[in-house]
Amino acid sequence: MTDLSDTRALVTGAGHGIGRGIALGLAAAGADVAVHYGSSADAAAETVSMIEKLGRKATAVQADVTSAEQVDRMVAEAVSFLGGLDVLVCNAGHLIGRVPVAEMAEEHYQRVVDVNLGATFRTCKAAIEALRESDRPRIITMSSLAAHNGGGPGSVIYAAAKAGIRGFTKGLAKELGPDKITVNAVAPGYIADTAFHNTFSTAEAQQTMIRNAPIGRSGQVEDVAAAVVFLASAEAGYLTGSTLDIDGGTWPR
Ligand SMILES: NC(=O)c1ccc[n+]([C@@H]2O[C@H](COP(=O)([O-])OP(=O)(O)OC[C@H]3O[C@@H](n4cnc5c(N)ncnc54)[C@H](O)[C@@H]3O)[C@@H](O)[C@H]2O)c1
Repeated sequence: MTDLSDTRALVTGAGHGIGRGIALGLAAAGADVAVHYGSSADAAAETVSMIEKLGRKATAVQADVTSAEQVDRMVAEAVSFLGGLDVLVCNAGHLIGRVPVAEMAEEHYQRVVDVNLGATFRTCKAAIEALRESDRPRIITMSSLAAHNGGGPGSVIYAAAKAGIRGFTKGLAKELGPDKITVNAVAPGYIADTAFHNTFSTAEAQQTMIRNAPIGRSGQVEDVAAAVVFLASAEAGYLTGSTLDIDGGTWPR
């Protein structure tokens, strides 16, 4: 099993869903974790308690990821609690709502870009100084199958923002290569039992997504966590600027 002992990680949007799965995966491999949340303090406290039961240190840190000021403060709190930072996982993101481009308000468009691409930019920016002090620094960003295939109905701007994260990841990998900071993205397909799909996808759409995956099942948060744990490991040290598709083979459908 991958050994992440003595690893200090910050996972954004880790109160539930994929973020919680990633936080627990990192902790199970030996990492201490700062659990970021936006508004669900109870869910974040539950993730913290689950990590502590695994014998690792954890704390909850709050910020609206659309605010640079709050993100700077949140990253500083995480670094202070952990005593440094080795792994940053920018998981927080949101579809906001399914709206066709022809009907989308300018404000909605800006919000979708800001909570996905903007949040990834400002969280990475806030963490770079601390990561430069690490012996094995890693950044992992959250793209999506939507970045490749344009997403489902009413998710054009979400797909564009997730494609932007893919480009951002490639560019940042080049920029931070000299610092030995690896930067990679994961691009999940349909991950079941998440607020994302429970809120925005019909049962019929969820069945279609399962049929579209050659592997013949939906993804689980553990599937995403396993890839993130690998990207955080010493073994992944020569892997940077990549996007790992975790979609059961769905792409390019
Ligand atoms: N569920 C899927 O199938 C799927 C597929 C591909 C990509 N993703 C991506 O995975 C990530 C996690 O999604 P999920 O499915 O677990 O859904 P989720 O809604 O449970 O998680 C989103 C997280 O982002 C946080 N967040 C959103 N807006 C925020 C804000 N303004 N400030 C602070 N935190 C904020 C939420 O608190 C939440 O913890 C997202 O980036 C999503 O786009 C999900």
